[in-house]
Amino acid sequence: MKAIKTEETDDMSEDLKIYAPPAELVAQAHVSGMAAYDALCAEAEADHEAFWARQARELLSWKKPFTKVLNEADAPFFKWFEDGLLNASYNCLDRNIERGLGDKTALIFEADGGEVTHTSYAQLLAKTCRMANALKAIGIGKGDRVIIYISMSVEGVAAMQACARIGATHSVVFGGFSAHSLRDRIEDTGAKAVITADCQVRGGKQLPLKAIVDEALTLGGCDSVSKVLVVNRAGAKVSMTEGRDLWLAELMKDQPETCEPEWVEAEHPLFLLYTSGSTGKPKGVQHSTGGYLLHAALTTKWTFDLKADDIFWCTADIGWVTGHTYITYGPLALGGTEIVFEGVPTYPDAGRFWKMIQDHKVTIFYTAPTAIRSLIKAAEAKDEVHPKSYDLSSLRILGSVGEPINPAAWEWYYQHVGGSRCPIVDTFWQTETGGHMITPLPGATPMVPGSCTLPFPGIAAAIVDETGKDVPNGQGGILVVKKPWPSMIRTIWGDPERYKKSYYPADFQGKYYLAGDGAIRDAKTGYFTITGRIDDVLNVSGHRMGTMEIESALVSCTELVAEAAVVGRPDDTTGEAICAFVVLKRPRPTGEEAKAIAKQLRDHVGKEIGPIAKPKDIRFGDNLPKTRSGKIMRRLLRQVAKGEAITQDISTLENPAILDQLSQVN
Ligand code: WT7
Repeated sequence: MKAIKTEETDDMSEDLKIYAPPAELVAQAHVSGMAAYDALCAEAEADHEAFWARQARELLSWKKPFTKVLNEADAPFFKWFEDGLLNASYNCLDRNIERGLGDKTALIFEADGGEVTHTSYAQLLAKTCRMANALKAIGIGKGDRVIIYISMSVEGVAAMQACARIGATHSVVFGGFSAHSLRDRIEDTGAKAVITADCQVRGGKQLPLKAIVDEALTLGGCDSVSKVLVVNRAGAKVSMTEGRDLWLAELMKDQPETCEPEWVEAEHPLFLLYTSGSTGKPKGVQHSTGGYLLHAALTTKWTFDLKADDIFWCTADIGWVTGHTYITYGPLALGGTEIVFEGVPTYPDAGRFWKMIQDHKVTIFYTAPTAIRSLIKAAEAKDEVHPKSYDLSSLRILGSVGEPINPAAWEWYYQHVGGSRCPIVDTFWQTETGGHMITPLPGATPMVPGSCTLPFPGIAAAIVDETGKDVPNGQGGILVVKKPWPSMIRTIWGDPERYKKSYYPADFQGKYYLAGDGAIRDAKTGYFTITGRIDDVLNVSGHRMGTMEIESALVSCTELVAEAAVVGRPDDTTGEAICAFVVLKRPRPTGEEAKAIAKQLRDHVGKEIGPIAKPKDIRFGDNLPKTRSGKIMRRLLRQVAKGEAITQDISTLENPAILDQLSQVN
């Protein structure tokens, strides 16, 4: 862990702008008013296990009720509700139908081109069961891993539910990842099958999926895969390998519409989801069934105040954790109606989100700051795509996720999208946490733009110094969670040691969960503000990238690259932008040649990881700034990347002249 600068701040409360939740919303909310919030926190504080046990009994249906709540014997490998049996797909589908919601719309799917289909709970269950039976027919069962490499679709949601139904562990890979990244994930999970589609349609264009699966499977290490199931999204031309590749619809055609759920232990791994760390390969974050589903349901209920007649829209992709928790599991576990959107916010124009909110009368809208910032730019340039040109009066709650939301974007979102009447829940959480950790509750918490406010009830978030000692409010420090919670990461798939080292480091005697973010609490209100990662993880458009991963991708271009260092720099739209400093195996290029090589390297990174990892800036130098002992001085590179004058002490720098070279942008 890196030392973190302690920020002394003046009392921020003086000029805090505080927004109270609207009275009508407070009156009707699941958690109504701060007294209700405080009471829940007090309940959890008084008896952490009893608090979570009560929620688990109220929100989930158990085939066999649990008698044990938390098992800490093998800490930090915590177990929750371990002797209980349940099924996530039963909880999301069957029981809603049993409650009379069979004809209620579960999913409103809007395709890239605008076609809309409604899928009722009964239809989604039938589809899920037929898919589950199809998976069984190809030999998939409890404990097997299935990779899902598909874009936003009813099939994507059903595929996740189908895996859950038969106790198979899914691992969804975002459709923007390359064949190499897909191969790594297939290999690490040892998946038996891949579910994919011929292509994905985004912004009016068809992008291949099946062809990328084909390529991944030729790269080696994928012998575990015996079947590839293909959804026909758009009739794109694909090659089908006999004996291995099957059209999913054909396989499902004769399957029965019922499938007895596989009742699994609460700790059974529901899914693996790969995310970037500060070192090495992406890690397979393992989530449980019971604890995870509980928090997915509970946070959907409290943070979004989801009610029977809400139309909920989370714009995230199912390839990220946000899409898992707030598309596939949370809203369905509560019997909600939600939008599944295939396309992009800027197609056919930057009014798409606003038009969809208007058309579907969306009541709860959850998106990322980076999307808001890019839509602000577009709206300010053209009235037709400004939210004011649409009827957004259906909205009652707005949400933000993935990165800090700057106060200016917050204000715009509040005023122009929410009509100054919708609370904004700025939800801080992570792939590893499974669901919200620090967030306002819309009918309770007064909001301050730029602050994720207060911990969710039952989440023991705190800020400590490098020794694990609490820091006083008003002083920055390291964000930790002091008690285990049900939806926390269980381990890193295949690497329990890395799990311990990354999340329960010896610095805190292995007692606290280390989030990897810095944070500060306001001196007066105690509100949390996230100050950014304290490790070498970047957040680009809400997508998490490891600097080391991008560096490895660059140096894997062995014919060109001798050495590379990657840092983030602030970016107005994407939050952070990737900036790479590269030493080539040939003389330092300039002018047109530098531009051409930079493009070649960007494409190489795109191929190794995916387009989202392509560096925005690539700078070439004869060397990198290093200490006399040979360590790259990243803090200097961060200043160079920002275009700032170097104010730091460079007396330990071996080669100061290099900084001028690296300041030049190609
Ligand atoms: C990292 C986790 C949360 C699901 C999507 C991203 C940053 C996330 C916020 C927020 C400030 C935030 C943190 C965190 N982050 N939400 N509301 N305010 N920062 O999940 O890819 O696992 O990334 O995203 O740095 O550690 P992820």
